[in-house]
Amino acid sequence: MTRPSLIAGNWKMNGMLADARALAKAIAGGHRPAAGNRSDVVLCPPAPLLLAVGEALAGSAVALGGQDCHAKPSGAFTGDVSARLLADIGCRYVIVGHSERRTLHGESDATVRAKAEAALAAGLIAIICVGETLAEREAGATASVLERQIDGSVPAAAAAATTVVAYEPVWAIGTGKVATTAQVAEAHGGLRRRLARNHADGGEFRLLYGGSVKPDNAGELLALPDVDGALVGGASLDAGQFLAIVAAARG
Ligand code: 13P
Repeated sequence: MTRPSLIAGNWKMNGMLADARALAKAIAGGHRPAAGNRSDVVLCPPAPLLLAVGEALAGSAVALGGQDCHAKPSGAFTGDVSARLLADIGCRYVIVGHSERRTLHGESDATVRAKAEAALAAGLIAIICVGETLAEREAGATASVLERQIDGSVPAAAAAATTVVAYEPVWAIGTGKVATTAQVAEAHGGLRRRLARNHADGGEFRLLYGGSVKPDNAGELLALPDVDGALVGGASLDAGQFLAIVAAARG
């Protein structure tokens, strides 16, 4: 069974209310998959814009996702958002363990796993991010870092229908330095083997690549055998660029 592709737009901390509505409407209006098309598209705006973006996407083939969630369902966690609330307001996905959260908010593999477990419990699809830093790559540690992150961040109960893994080499995020197809193929092959070792349906998990994905490099990245989609940052803030990447995934 072939895996359906997934193109996810991570808007990060960008956009104001009016821009967000306009961008979401442009993407929803431009994404008209043919009947039977199994490619999925999701937009992950900043939390305060989720409701407005959800309204703009209503009735379209584009889903809504959060950029992060808390591990607990509710409580005294000022500033945090629960997975349950994300699901309640219409999200189908949530990103967890993005390298910006791991680095800037000190999130460990155990924290990321707890968030992913909360996402699964809330009925969301978790997009769990992994990726090595430049120093780790230069030290020849890429494979061991990715294995450690997979073992520590992906819940034991994760399954292909509920969990997506995104490989985002930290040195390729927002830098314009996209990983080579050989680097991506090697990393994704290792991720696939690790998931297959840890999960009965590990061969069916969708694996996304993220890091400076643009319309001009999306085609060759998405054509790699273990690349099932992309997690797009900067280019997801431009409807034309994002839709061109979506079109590349449809082949
Ligand atoms: P860029 O596409 O801007 O490099 O960001 C990638 C990313 O971090 C998506 O989550």
